Amino acid sequence: MSIFELSHITNVFGIFGLLQVVSLLGLLLLLLKSAQYYLHRQWLIKSLQQFPPAPPPQWLFGNTLKDQDLQQILLCVEKFPSTYVRWLWGNHARVVIYDPDYMKVILGRSDPKVVRSYSFFAPWIGYGLLLLNGKKWFQHRRMLTPAFHYDILKPYVGIMVDSVHVMLDKWEQLVDQDCPLEIYQDISLMTMETMMKCAFSYQGSVQLEENSKSYIKAVEDLTHLIYLRVRNGFHQNNTIYSLSSNGRSFYHACQIAHKHTERVIRMRKAQLQNEAELEKFRKKKRLDFLDILLFAQTEDGKSLSDEDVRAEMDTFMFEGHNTTASGISWIFYALATHPEHQQRCREEVKSILGNGTSVTLNHLDQMPYTTMCIKEALRLYPPIPGASRELSSPVTFPDGCSLPKGFLVTLSFYGLHHNPRLRPNAEVFDPSRFAPGAPRQTHAFLPFSAGTRNCIGKQFTMNELKVAVALTLLRFELLPDPTRVPILVSKIVLKSKNGIYLHTKKLK
Ligand code: HEM
Repeated sequence: MSIFELSHITNVFGIFGLLQVVSLLGLLLLLLKSAQYYLHRQWLIKSLQQFPPAPPPQWLFGNTLKDQDLQQILLCVEKFPSTYVRWLWGNHARVVIYDPDYMKVILGRSDPKVVRSYSFFAPWIGYGLLLLNGKKWFQHRRMLTPAFHYDILKPYVGIMVDSVHVMLDKWEQLVDQDCPLEIYQDISLMTMETMMKCAFSYQGSVQLEENSKSYIKAVEDLTHLIYLRVRNGFHQNNTIYSLSSNGRSFYHACQIAHKHTERVIRMRKAQLQNEAELEKFRKKKRLDFLDILLFAQTEDGKSLSDEDVRAEMDTFMFEGHNTTASGISWIFYALATHPEHQQRCREEVKSILGNGTSVTLNHLDQMPYTTMCIKEALRLYPPIPGASRELSSPVTFPDGCSLPKGFLVTLSFYGLHHNPRLRPNAEVFDPSRFAPGAPRQTHAFLPFSAGTRNCIGKQFTMNELKVAVALTLLRFELLPDPTRVPILVSKIVLKSKNGIYLHTKKLK
């Protein structure tokens, strides 16, 4: 045998041996991972023993395969008094809570938001109020609270009125066609217009023109893509997601949205360099959110960085238009399906506003029945159906059930509002639940959450909802389309799978 043949054989054995070692190591790693997975699952199952599981999860995808979170919650709320366990893909589980005492405990703590789910928003809205935790969140919340002061919100009412009228004028043109209108899209454009004007004094009309469409489309796409990602076990990993077609669309839409926000900030900053413009600013009657952000300072006199300003602006755009669009659409649906309450609201609004030529914040404070109907609609259709927290320390609930540190908890506002133990006929639209003097339980109605991380835009929103309801009822009668009953779906905000169709009848 030649030296060449000998070295060839040793090479073959060498490669073969190496392959054997690699396979053995691979197998060992797999065994180790499986053991880890098994042990973690056993720990989860043990920790969750006190909480009812529902319904039987699929072994890999848990309860995430179908678009039926809300239907599942309704079933569980009927069966289990306070909580149930929802399994997600692989080894992830969450305890879903919908009992006021449980809510009070969690919302009274300062657990951070669940990094895994909320972080999907980060490439778009960055770390603004919604995603920040800890000291930086506290600093920002203090700096931004003045932006929602009663006096700052006063002049925004005029912007809201104008945006609603643009939408109603559009509806008037369509009235003759006598076919039901899908209201969500129009309302969404209207609330986006309001937000763009309040946030950065946008001069055009989102509802009428074409040239701002790329930003609007990007914002719509981003919300939808995040919803899809949350539900897809394979897309949890950033690298895999960025290589997928949804991931590529997501990052492309982020670029469009950022370019837009950055351009607006750059232009405003350049304006403020000019002494004459600065003087104009000082005399300005209506400050927008961007003005307030650019001049906000921490206690030690520091301003927000450009990145922070962008994050807060993008957060306002995301939080401020989707949620209110959902709120208004469902309020309209609730009033359309309850004509007697609709008529009572219309009479109240007429008695306060006449034909609606002038609307002020003061008027909005004088609509008790309309406010009751709005609240009842927010109860049945909470625009944000749930939020989540990751326990930073163990917790024990008033009934003695406990969870260890690290567990994920979903606060189901939808489940809470539909919980039959808290109110009789929970599925019935009954505004008298919110009548002055009606019995009220703390933490049983939380459309804007509660505690330190409640919605900073609550008052802004209530104003916008009242303006939209009041002006619409003065011009239109809303009627349901019995052939298209909405199917509720939680797409981060509460939407309808098949749209929200209503007949809009022009009032004489
Ligand atoms: C119908 C309309 C709205 C509803 C139902 C709503 C509801 C909520 C809820 C439930 C939270 C808590 C989320 C969580 O804990 O993860 C929240 C937070 C927040 N909302 Fe709203 N929101 C609405 C409109 C708005 C508007 C118009 C703005 C801004 C102009 C806004 C800005 C925010 C911000 C910045 C946060 C984070 C607050 C923090 O963590 O400090 N929201 N909202």
